[in-house]
Amino acid sequence: MSRLTSYAGKSALITGASSGIGRLLALRLSRAGARVALVARRESELRNVAREIESGGGEVLVLPCDVADRAEVFACAARAVARLGDVDILVNNAGYGHHRPFLDWELDDMERMLRVNFLGTLYWTKALLPQMVERGAGWLVFVASVAGKLAVPDESAYVASKFAMVGLAETLSIELEDHGVHVLTVCPGTVNTPFFDSEALERMPPVARRMMIDPDTVVTATLDALARGHHEITVPRMIGAGYVVRAVAPAFMRRRTKRTTIGAVAQRRTSS
Ligand SMILES: NC(=O)c1ccc[n+]([C@@H]2O[C@H](COP(=O)([O-])OP(=O)(O)OC[C@H]3O[C@@H](n4cnc5c(N)ncnc54)[C@H](OP(=O)(O)O)[C@@H]3O)[C@@H](O)[C@H]2O)c1
Repeated sequence: MSRLTSYAGKSALITGASSGIGRLLALRLSRAGARVALVARRESELRNVAREIESGGGEVLVLPCDVADRAEVFACAARAVARLGDVDILVNNAGYGHHRPFLDWELDDMERMLRVNFLGTLYWTKALLPQMVERGAGWLVFVASVAGKLAVPDESAYVASKFAMVGLAETLSIELEDHGVHVLTVCPGTVNTPFFDSEALERMPPVARRMMIDPDTVVTATLDALARGHHEITVPRMIGAGYVVRAVAPAFMRRRTKRTTIGAVAQRRTSS
């Protein structure tokens, strides 16, 4: 178990740092003393985050990059190492979701989502892990989702991308343990960020809306888990009870999932 309790002198690269969880995490890591590299497509948003970090006296590097583009990822990783030195902490956080029934979902769109959410994670890990293993130290953080542990109807491609991410992270956490690299998987429930547009908010089942948390809660839980040397967290913790229910009473879980998702949406349509 490798506890991360001090960020002074460390460098961190965060994907999806232009918004939501990634933006907040970058600000918190910088405030704790880390040098940070910010990755996302929207350079102007990254520059805003960078200005905030610099105004607090932090060192920051802006790396505009589409994580779905393998060559771009490897070029950006090389720039990060050249400027910040070896990266101690990689946070694979970039990602997005859609709500569509499988049959209505354009294949190109599904493929793109898997590319961004899963392959982007794979590329960044491949690019930065070797230098961590060589040094015998490093931390990989995978911002997955509860949707990487439990099925959610109408989110098939997103769920598949997050299950893949959880599988990769869990495997690496075992494979890398003896190489000094610690892996943490973060599985948030519903978080109040620009991830949800107005259509998604409208469709959201009441149970998910009721349990919506602030990104700050996810970031605090992540830093706490790193300090304690945990390998996987679910935020809020109580959602993790669903994993146990699924394991011991799968038929009950299927009925409940259907009722609280597809059933709740259909009921809202009839009553409106
Ligand atoms: N919000 C939730 O309820 C929730 C729940 C569970 C898990 N998560 C996960 O948490 C992570 C962060 O989401 P969030 O809630 O903070 O959403 P967000 O505010 O929409 O942030 C998503 C980030 O990903 C970046 N991104 C998207 N596509 C990208 C691409 N092709 N290349 C590079 N960067 C890309 C976006 O930047 P650009 O647009 O500038 O590229 C943005 O910085 C995601 O992986 C999401 O699946 C979110």
